[in-house]
Amino acid sequence: MTDIKVTLKDGSNIDNTDWNNLRFGVYFSDHVFMSDFKNGEWGDDRIIPYGPMQVDPGMCTLHYGQTIFEGLKAFPDKNGGVNLFRPDKNAARLNHSGAMVCIPAFDENLFVDAIKKLVKIDKKWIPQKRGESLYLRPVLYGSSNFLGVHASEEYKLIIMTSPVGSYYAEGLNPVDILVSDTYVRAVKGGLGSAKTAANYAASMLGGAKAKELGYAQVLWLDGVSRSFIDEVGAMNIMFQIGDELVTPSLERGAILNGVTRDTVLTLAKDWGMKVRERDITIDEILKANTDGTLKEVFGTGTAAVISPVGKLTYKGKDLLINGGKIGNLAQKMYDTITGLQYGEIEDTHGWIQHFEV
Ligand SMILES: Cc1ncc(COP(=O)(O)O)c(C=O)c1O
Repeated sequence: MTDIKVTLKDGSNIDNTDWNNLRFGVYFSDHVFMSDFKNGEWGDDRIIPYGPMQVDPGMCTLHYGQTIFEGLKAFPDKNGGVNLFRPDKNAARLNHSGAMVCIPAFDENLFVDAIKKLVKIDKKWIPQKRGESLYLRPVLYGSSNFLGVHASEEYKLIIMTSPVGSYYAEGLNPVDILVSDTYVRAVKGGLGSAKTAANYAASMLGGAKAKELGYAQVLWLDGVSRSFIDEVGAMNIMFQIGDELVTPSLERGAILNGVTRDTVLTLAKDWGMKVRERDITIDEILKANTDGTLKEVFGTGTAAVISPVGKLTYKGKDLLINGGKIGNLAQKMYDTITGLQYGEIEDTHGWIQHFEV
C-alpha cells in the first residue's frame, strides 16, 4: 500500500461546531486527504490540515468544469467503531465519472484506505447520535493553469469530511416534487451518468424555480422527448406499480448509478418482489395513478436514504401518491438500510466495511 504522509493540525475547529444543529455540509473536520496527478501518475498522498488553497486565475477547472465528486458516509456502529457503506461502489463510480470527462483513474483500494485513515484521524468529528453521520466528500479536478478547451495535464484529488445531522429529525417525511417539462438536466450521450459539476449547474435554475413554487425537488424527464423519467435532484426514483418495483434503467446513460438505488433493488429482490429496470414514461405514471395501480413513489440517495414522494405535479396536474403518506415499502427500505448502516441489522451482502477508530 502507498504510504500516506500525515501532517496534523495544531488545535482543532471542533469547538466551533454546533452539535445540536449540524445540518448538511456546514462544518468541515480538521483534516483532508490529498493526492496529485503529475507527469502521468498519481502520487504525494497525504493527510493535511483543512484550510484555504491558493488557486491560479487560469486554473482550467474554473473555466471548463473538468471536475467530478463523490458522496458517502461513515456511520457510528451500534457496538463501537465505524461503518462505511459500500465505499467500493463510490470508488468505481468516481472512476466512471472520471472516464466521462477525461480524468485519469485513481486507485480504488487506495481511495477506500485513504478514507479510513482520514476518518480515524478525525474520529472525534464522527457524530454519535442515531441518524447522524460523518459525510465524506471526495472531489477530483484538473489543476493545470491554461486557457483552451482540452483536458488538464495535472489533477488533484481532495477528500474532506463533514459531520451531518439527521435528514429526518422527526421521522420520514413525504415531499412534493415538480415534474419539469421546461428544463432538462442531461441528455442521452451526455454526462448524465457522471457525478460531474455540469449536471448540478444544469439543475440549479429548474430547482430554484421549483423551490419558489413550494416544491422540494424537480423530477427530470429525458432531454429529447421529455417523456421518459430520469431522476430527481440528487436522487434516483422508484415506483411501486401493482406488486412490481420499477425504476428507470441505466442503459440510456442519462442518470447516476446510485449506490442506494442498487441497494434498494437488491433488497426488494431479496424480499421476493418483482423488480424491473426499464424506460418509464410520465404518461404511464399518470395512467397508473388514475387506475389506482401506482402504490408508492420514493427517491433514493445517500443524503436522505429514502425520500417518499407525497405529491407529483406535471403540467399543472397534481398526483397525490399513497394519500400523501409514507408507504410501507419506503418505510421498510429506510429502516433496513439505516439498520445495516448503524450495525443494528446483520449484513448478509458484504456491504459494510467496519473498522475500529
Ligand atoms: C444526480 C444524482 N442521482 C442520484 C443520486 C443518488 O446516488 P447515491 O445513492 O449513490 O447517493 C445522487 C447522489 O449522489 C445524485 O447526485
